[in-house]
Amino acid sequence: METLFQTAPLTRAIEAIVAAGGSEPREAKLVAENLVTANLLGHDSHGIGMIPRYIDAVLEGGLAPNSHPKPTLDAGALLALDGCKGYGQVIGGEAMQMAIERAKKHGSCVMTLGNTHHLGRIGHWAEMAVAQGLVSIHFVNVISHARVAPYGGRDARFGTNPCCIGIPLPGEAPFVLDYATSAVAQGKLRVAHNKGDKVPLGRLIDDEGNPTHDPRYAVIAPYGAMLAFGEHKGYGMAIACELLGGALSGGGTWHYEESNKQRVLNGMLAIVIDPKRLGTEAAFERETRLFLDWLRKSRPAPGFDHVRTAGEPERELRAKRTRDGIPVDETTWQEILRAADKVKLARSRVEDLARGK
Ligand SMILES: NC(=O)c1ccc[n+]([C@@H]2O[C@H](COP(=O)([O-])OP(=O)(O)OC[C@H]3O[C@@H](n4cnc5c(N)ncnc54)[C@H](O)[C@@H]3O)[C@@H](O)[C@H]2O)c1
Repeated sequence: METLFQTAPLTRAIEAIVAAGGSEPREAKLVAENLVTANLLGHDSHGIGMIPRYIDAVLEGGLAPNSHPKPTLDAGALLALDGCKGYGQVIGGEAMQMAIERAKKHGSCVMTLGNTHHLGRIGHWAEMAVAQGLVSIHFVNVISHARVAPYGGRDARFGTNPCCIGIPLPGEAPFVLDYATSAVAQGKLRVAHNKGDKVPLGRLIDDEGNPTHDPRYAVIAPYGAMLAFGEHKGYGMAIACELLGGALSGGGTWHYEESNKQRVLNGMLAIVIDPKRLGTEAAFERETRLFLDWLRKSRPAPGFDHVRTAGEPERELRAKRTRDGIPVDETTWQEILRAADKVKLARSRVEDLARGK
């Protein structure tokens, strides 16, 4: 069963839970807006369903509310930040703001951010830069649980390590390529498990290393492992994310036996480039235009109405869900209400806020 919620009241309900967990009002608002936006864009895996985990992480001490990024190096176009285990929704925004300012000043900025709590949808951070006319490239690792098997291995050794490339496009909405290097995002398997859905073969192996379509192997013990997308190609990209997001940032790589902690830490390398400063601006605009026009002349394959570019499906879903409401399945909603119990916020208050009362 699913319930449809409107954006503004749902945001206020989530904001109330985060605030009850000890966050200042600005932080509670930023976290709620960020998560609800992920739902609006169709990435329910990185939406309000994360709240139970965030609250558990706060209560365990693995997530430190009201933290801000601390520079360990601030040297022109090089910026290294410690995320201090703070809410990624705040740390990510403040870190990107610093990287954007430096990219505008110096033409580019290489920013590392280690040790931040979950950054959510990485596209959110690229979008901040593209909104200012900048290119933004992100490699991210995940310190949470080993969930993905290496190519040629049968047990999980690393996380769903996302990567993202945002490019501003002349005269139209930006290109925002943003995905996990696992064949499917961990959170999507949680959503599939909550809904009782199966997943296509080729994305998951069971605890014996056999292909399976049962998402439980990604959600409850005995754990199997996810596979990287695109065989050795996605696997290589996942390792690049671990080395750049985890090792280069100083935040750390995953090399542990299983953890029962609820916190999800991310490390990120972000490269922000101002195309105007490269002196190729006119060619960039012209060639982008020529290529996109050419690309879109491709005849749609069976089952497709037109060829899309990254970012387009999210914009389409945002329009639909803003109009019709955000669907939330019953299991996810009950988990959110249990999170409210844990921070002593009455369920009736959350229900009332979510329904606009
Ligand atoms: N913070 C973390 O630890 C973490 C970890 C993993 C994933 N994530 C996030 O999870 C989210 C979901 O990841 P995912 O792997 O499920 O993404 P996905 O498989 O849904 O792929 C999304 C990307 O593909 C593009 N796309 C989709 N359909 C398309 C089409 N028909 N034509 C052209 N482009 C198309 C989208 O615009 C988007 O860029 C991402 O936002 C990612 O950043 C975060």
